[in-house]
Amino acid sequence: MNAYIEQNKDRFLSELFDILKIPSVSTDASFSDDVKKAAEFIKIKLEEAGADKVEVVETPGNPIVYGEKNVGDDKPTVLVYGHYDVQPADPIELWDSPPFEPVVKDGRIYARGACDDKGQMYMHVKALEVMNQDGGVPCNIKFMIEGEEEIGSNNLGWFVDNFRDRLDADVILISDTDMLGLDTPSICTGLRGLSYVEVELTGPSRDLHSGLYGGSVTNPINALCKMVDSLTDENNSITIPGFYDNVEVVSDEERAKMAKAPSKDEATKKELDIDELDGEHGYSSLERTSIRPTMDVNGIWGGYMQEGAKTVIASKAYAKISMRLVPNQSSDEITELFSNHFKSIAPKGIKVKVTPHHGGEPAVTPIDSKGYKAAELAMKNTLGKDPIPVRSGGSIPIVAMFKEKLGLDSVLFGFGLSIDAIHSPNESYGIENFLKGTEAITRFHHHFSKL
Ligand code: BES
Ligand code: MN
Ligand code: MN
Repeated sequence: MNAYIEQNKDRFLSELFDILKIPSVSTDASFSDDVKKAAEFIKIKLEEAGADKVEVVETPGNPIVYGEKNVGDDKPTVLVYGHYDVQPADPIELWDSPPFEPVVKDGRIYARGACDDKGQMYMHVKALEVMNQDGGVPCNIKFMIEGEEEIGSNNLGWFVDNFRDRLDADVILISDTDMLGLDTPSICTGLRGLSYVEVELTGPSRDLHSGLYGGSVTNPINALCKMVDSLTDENNSITIPGFYDNVEVVSDEERAKMAKAPSKDEATKKELDIDELDGEHGYSSLERTSIRPTMDVNGIWGGYMQEGAKTVIASKAYAKISMRLVPNQSSDEITELFSNHFKSIAPKGIKVKVTPHHGGEPAVTPIDSKGYKAAELAMKNTLGKDPIPVRSGGSIPIVAMFKEKLGLDSVLFGFGLSIDAIHSPNESYGIENFLKGTEAITRFHHHFSKL
């Protein structure tokens, strides 16, 4: 490992712990002071690492930390994106240690945000320090670290429009995805898009006695279950008319290449304690989670949910439903198709309201670009093996937005692992991933500036 990283790793980790201790949860307004604190912390650390101009930019929502390290107009420029906001920690009782008190166990850091994205974002801050202290920074680097990724990056478009003149760059570099393993390196080459809706079903105007009225009025919870069930068929294909119309057909060659990636099915079953995996018929797990669109209920509620039994027919039933999208599907179009279809299948006596939440477009990144080649070399030189290109199932909607607004491709240089349990209790990040990731990032900048 790079000697400077080796000598300073304990301090790097203790700084990472300091930011992990700040509960910068973006979904919940009661954490807004901590969100600000996290932004200020990153500003100070970017300055200490050697950035010349760092600002905490206020937006209509959470602040964005913007910084620059300029080494010369003749040098290429890398724009680094990351996010300092985290998902809520709930359900808190399922954590083995408190989510905002990081601990190390078996070489892994346990805390909310350990991987997504504080741990990965902080690799970039430390990579700047490493280059600045040890051999020099080979290219211009701009940092744009936001605090609303987990709630849909609502103000990043505003920021990009307002700071357009500062954001010229040659490539965008993001560490907010995962890889197959440190011994099977991979680079993420695609992300799915997202449509996210909340549905509200209203039956009778008030909650009813389930004996006096049961059987004579449509129960909104029963109706919701039937409606949700009808959204997929016996092949687990989605039944919304037009849903698959624009889905990119991946060539047989590419599918054959994907089939060569080592299957993780057995390991996944074991890890998740399930006896079978299932999904859309005719596709492998890897395909189901990368090149195919999906629909999932993320939450469903209504009626009596306290202790004991209450005999009641609720007036309302609710669900939150997400659809992951693939290239050429459009988030707005799919939301519209869903909304029309869902309303059309409501049984008698039920009114349906569909409220769209944030969404985002899918993205694929080129593998013949300078940026991808620099990433490939950096990984190979750090981890000893050529990385495999793999599309991921997750979403980072700003990747498509950057392409549209800035005309720039992103390199998804992620060092997470599937065992990191992001968004779940006991999220963690391997110390090895953090340190090797930091090293690989320094290499990326060197290769990129030479290619
Ligand atoms: N970093 C994740 C996305 C991710 C993780 C992509 C692993 C690929 C591999 C990001 O923070 C995230 O959670 N995105 C959300 C979407 C967002 C609009 C809330 C997601 O994918 O659910
Ligand atoms: Mn993330
Ligand atoms: Mn996330």
